[in-house]
Amino acid sequence: MRCFAMLISMLFLLNSSASDMFFPGTENPTCILNWFLLYVTKHPDLQAKIHRQLDDVIGNKRRLPEISDKPNLPYLEAFIAEVQRIVSETPLAVPHSTTRDTSLAGFFIPRDMTVFINLWAIHHDPDRWEDPSCFRPERFLDERGRFHSEGFIPFSLGKRSCPGKAFGSKAVFIYAARLLYRFKFECPPGEVLPGAEDSENGIVLDSKPFTICARERINANLLTTE
Ligand code: HEM
Repeated sequence: MRCFAMLISMLFLLNSSASDMFFPGTENPTCILNWFLLYVTKHPDLQAKIHRQLDDVIGNKRRLPEISDKPNLPYLEAFIAEVQRIVSETPLAVPHSTTRDTSLAGFFIPRDMTVFINLWAIHHDPDRWEDPSCFRPERFLDERGRFHSEGFIPFSLGKRSCPGKAFGSKAVFIYAARLLYRFKFECPPGEVLPGAEDSENGIVLDSKPFTICARERINANLLTTE
């Protein structure tokens, strides 16, 4: 009987760990890609810059972008970071709780208090970001055009920050690079695209539904697969 109870609680633990990883592991990257497609469509001039960089790096090598191309695609990386900054899709991270009385920056926080980290406010702090409501990927590039991520914390910080950071950022990058390499995204005539302020609320902010048009730039039949 004891063994049976242990088995049930182990299965319960395994099941909840899997769903704990599955929900944020799929929800966040999908949501970022949604916002990414919205912003590339809203900014055709900036989309053209990403296309130029992709063409310079991949050229006519008949292959899709790889994660190893990332250091050579700083504008795309900066564009994705700017989407994540302006949208701050996990605006209040996930709730945490204090395990004892503590204080932070002169504020007393009692034990068992629910604490939220306001990532949205950090990413829109006018003392840190010039014109924070303006979409400008260049803010993530240094004077030599290299990507930097100063002040940018989409995965939060500390012991309980996102454990999917490495996997999540690679997944978003590779999908974004491959989509843009293959397609040009356009706004269909008459379509009004939503803004960041039109997001649908939840722990993760998603965009309102929108319609865009994907025009093929590189024919899939011309690509070699490995
Ligand atoms: C790619 C985009 C992602 C972003 C922007 C993101 C962002 C975040 C943020 C802000 C938190 C809250 C951290 C805190 O409260 O301090 C979090 C927690 C978490 N994330 Fe992610 N995440 C992403 C992808 C993923 C992936 C791919 C996985 C799993 C494979 C994942 C698993 C988790 C889990 C399990 C937690 C809870 C951690 C805890 O409470 O200790 N995330 N994420």
